[in-house]
Amino acid sequence: MLKSTPRELQLARPASRDTFEPTAIDKLDGALAVADEPAAEPGPELRALFNPFSAGAEQFRVLRSRLSLHMGAPAAGHGQVVAVVGAERGVGRSFVAANLAVSMAQRGGRVLLVDADLRHPRLHRLFGLRAADGLASMLDGRADYRSVRAVASLPALHLLTAGAPPAHPLELVERPEFALVMRQLRLRFSHIVLDTTAACDGPDAAIVAGNADAALLVVQRHRSSMSALHRLQQALHLAGTAVVGAVDNAH
Ligand SMILES: Nc1ncnc2c1ncn2[C@@H]1O[C@H](COP(=O)(O)OP(=O)(O)OP(=O)(O)O)[C@@H](O)[C@H]1O
Ligand SMILES: [Mg+2]
Repeated sequence: MLKSTPRELQLARPASRDTFEPTAIDKLDGALAVADEPAAEPGPELRALFNPFSAGAEQFRVLRSRLSLHMGAPAAGHGQVVAVVGAERGVGRSFVAANLAVSMAQRGGRVLLVDADLRHPRLHRLFGLRAADGLASMLDGRADYRSVRAVASLPALHLLTAGAPPAHPLELVERPEFALVMRQLRLRFSHIVLDTTAACDGPDAAIVAGNADAALLVVQRHRSSMSALHRLQQALHLAGTAVVGAVDNAH
């Protein structure tokens, strides 16, 4: 499933070393994963979790290792962020993001999976949760980091759902609060995986990925359009985020 595309493979730009400035939004040390909300209950799409000896799970371990080779080890207090992007709807971004995060969490460290697809969020369903509070509510100032849930049966993995669908999703991810939230989360997690909106739905994915160290492209052979992929690659380039690999998600 994993297809490295050597011409596109390049090291991610160096992670930003901005120091974190405490603000009103930072009122949560120790609050992560201790919310009253129920823990996320992973469902059957999480192959890497339920069928760890399957070929599919092995492919996610290979993907995880190749990403590590490209990105190196995260610096202490500065978690690495990878955005899972794709040009069209339904190519499997959420599936890949969720299984990759599971695979990372199985290796150890603190891993966070974020549903940053505020237009068509789906990760809450993969993990058996209501949309409820999540990223959109945090960016709107209606929720805080207690929206991050632990995942039952895999304590290293945490999930931040998209939250209630906002009226203006693009505007929300463009807000400076998004970059601020990401800086905060980097302090608390060693690896963060961002699920994103299909690029055909707007520039949201490139803006979200602009806060990541690297982008992983999900494509489907015989379906993904090369011109759409090139447009997405250009948008990512403008956002300053390198595409470090592509997954040919044939299924
Ligand atoms: N490798 C795979 N093997 C089996 N099923 C898959 C695979 N990849 C994706 N699917 C299934 O295809 C459907 C679409 O996948 P997914 O929701 O991950 O795509 P998406 O790109 O995130 O879509 P959207 O544009 O709605 O965000 C889901 O039902 C998912 O379980
Ligand atoms: Mg999706």
